[in-house]
Amino acid sequence: MAFPIHRARRLRKNEQIRRLVRETCLSIDDVVYPIFIEEGKNIKIEISSMPDIYRYSLDRLSEELDEVVKFNIPAVILFGIPKHKDEVGSESWNDEGIIQQAVRYIKENYPQLYVITDVCFCEYTSHGHCGVLKGSDVDNDETLENLKKQVVSHAKAGADMVAPSGMMDGMVKAIRKALDEAGFKDIPIMSYSAKFASAYYGPFRDAAESTPAFGDRRSYQMDFHNSREALKEVLFDVEEGADIVMVKPALAYLDIISRIKENVYLPVAAYNVSGEYSMIKAGIKMGWIDEKVIYETLVAIKRAGADIIITYFAKDLAKFLTRL
Ligand code: PBG
Ligand code: ZN
Repeated sequence: MAFPIHRARRLRKNEQIRRLVRETCLSIDDVVYPIFIEEGKNIKIEISSMPDIYRYSLDRLSEELDEVVKFNIPAVILFGIPKHKDEVGSESWNDEGIIQQAVRYIKENYPQLYVITDVCFCEYTSHGHCGVLKGSDVDNDETLENLKKQVVSHAKAGADMVAPSGMMDGMVKAIRKALDEAGFKDIPIMSYSAKFASAYYGPFRDAAESTPAFGDRRSYQMDFHNSREALKEVLFDVEEGADIVMVKPALAYLDIISRIKENVYLPVAAYNVSGEYSMIKAGIKMGWIDEKVIYETLVAIKRAGADIIITYFAKDLAKFLTRL
């Protein structure tokens, strides 16, 4: 059957035929850009472990947003860094909190941007865990009560979508109910459904000041040895009313993305996390690897099955695509 009748190289002869048979198309429409917003004034601080990524105060946020809009990036996901932290992370549901102010500011001044809020507590708690502590572990059901307050507060501020990232059981169900009861039945939920306890989050924790003060997140985030369990988590979230399911991290988890894509009919998002970003940036900075790997990496995530990619490379991708 095969050679010499078949010659795969015929369809690789020049760029025109390669374009015609190309299976995956990555565009700027597929990406969401994460932004860190810190309470305070006149802040633009580069995150030491994430070159070219900054924390902004609200009064300087336009420097970032002007670029995002110029590059036609459709959506941002916001992370807040509050001044005041406490045991339960109460600042996260303060209607005048940093995220709530940021959402209002963006919706007012950049109405073309779709605003997603990350919904968690680790940036807001004094201990850095993703919910209310009981002893040395996070209490699931009590955390759900606070999650409801947080999402309603985000919705009131004008968030277009909420993205719970704490891996609490029942979080999607609780949030859907809270949103519906508060009159926000059209706000979708993008759930961090299969979020693994990963060392790839290290640079993010520098950026968001969210490193746990003790222990780790393995009692709520997934064990990275597991794949069927990821599907179980996703199916729970589908039943509970998630609109989009997410896999996180992305690069070392392409098998998970692919498996989920084949088994559910919701859009699948993948979070190309901070550690994946920093490794590539470091390689480029050292001159050890060409920056073309950014595009190759994002295409791989899309090819695996991600419909949406949350990535710190969003602006790099925009530059790359317009240069083509
Ligand atoms: C908070 C949260 C984390 C990330 C997104 N939301 C960190 C964590 O779980 O510690 C990671 C993002 C990244 O590494 O880029 N729950
Ligand atoms: Zn968290």
